[in-house]
Amino acid sequence: MFSNIERMQNVKTIKDVELENKRVLIRVDYNVPMDETHAIIDDTRIKESLATIEYCIDHKVRYIFLVTHLGQPKEIDENFSTKHLLKRLSRLLHKDVEFVENFENFAPLDDKIYLFENIRFFEGETKNDDKLSKRLAEVCDVYVNDAFGTSHRAHSSTCGVAQFVPVSVSGFLLKKEISAFAKALFTPVKPITLVVGGAKVSSKIVLLKNIIPKINKIIIGGAMSNTFLKALGYDMKSSLAEDELLEEARIILEMAKHQQVNIYLPVDVVVTDDIKNFNNIKITPVQEIEDNFKALDIGPATVKLYEEVIGLSNTIIWNGPMGMFEVDLFSKGTFKIAHAIADTYAYTIAGGGDTVNAIIQSGEKDNFSFISTGGGASLELLEGKILPGVVNLNQLGI
Ligand code: 3PG
Repeated sequence: MFSNIERMQNVKTIKDVELENKRVLIRVDYNVPMDETHAIIDDTRIKESLATIEYCIDHKVRYIFLVTHLGQPKEIDENFSTKHLLKRLSRLLHKDVEFVENFENFAPLDDKIYLFENIRFFEGETKNDDKLSKRLAEVCDVYVNDAFGTSHRAHSSTCGVAQFVPVSVSGFLLKKEISAFAKALFTPVKPITLVVGGAKVSSKIVLLKNIIPKINKIIIGGAMSNTFLKALGYDMKSSLAEDELLEEARIILEMAKHQQVNIYLPVDVVVTDDIKNFNNIKITPVQEIEDNFKALDIGPATVKLYEEVIGLSNTIIWNGPMGMFEVDLFSKGTFKIAHAIADTYAYTIAGGGDTVNAIIQSGEKDNFSFISTGGGASLELLEGKILPGVVNLNQLGI
């Protein structure tokens, strides 16, 4: 039986359809971080969309409509207007891109590229409303989903619209993302190691349960490791832990044992008793955390252990930081793990907003085999779910 990710890997792309003289609507994910002046801080997602747009231009489409959301506005709000993306997009494409406030009320010209206003300003988008899906479908002959980062959302512009367009396929980025995760999970060179972190076990339960049968080792860091250590009987004192999930953590440990998957947990941690001033910071074995202290990073002995496991792996999937890396004092563990993964000869793949930020800050961005542009979407891939942004594709119009 094929898994969801293997099925999604068969998605057709723009290479499989006729584009010449067609009106093409491309759903991109330009939900990029901006500062208070609307300057774009990281344009990776825009750059990653260019291959698809350029392919369409090269194949003589009539015109291109680009559709994206930006932020999570509840109403029309100038701060979330896609106008703020125009300059960067035009510069990266080396072409003028025109802004369209109301996509139903304008006359497009041949050979032009248009960027629609934030699709979340339009009623029905986040409800995957058929009315909006049909309105979007009416303006195009070919629908292309290239918004991997938003493909876990069943919205009109990512999911619904594809039902009403004669031809609907994937762009290159969406396909590339699915293929990268499929390679790590289904044709990996073993041993395959999952490095998982972040604050909550609750956000990773489905992932862990889905992935255990496919991998060899799991390295756990971040606050979620406190819950696992607590489940094993360690007194984590004031450390963040999910007491209601201790039983779930034990089930996951048991599952892993049963399937001969080794789980690695911190042996020492960096702790503080004052989350505001950080005057009192110590490195301590997990057996010896003092009253009122909480763990905020993995310690040096843990880093050594994890480096060893990482160095022996041939495929590594990373999702979730090892500690509170936003604060310098607690960033060492996460950055050392980023360097360790980057230094291997393994196939290395990372996903998740925090993880990718940590990799960028560590200077290792170019030393990973693949860095996903999706946070929630990459998590759902690892959880084995089918992405709503893919289900309605593969309408080839033939
Ligand atoms: C993201 O940045 O994770 C995607 O663009 C999805 O955004 P959303 O969480 O607002 O749907």
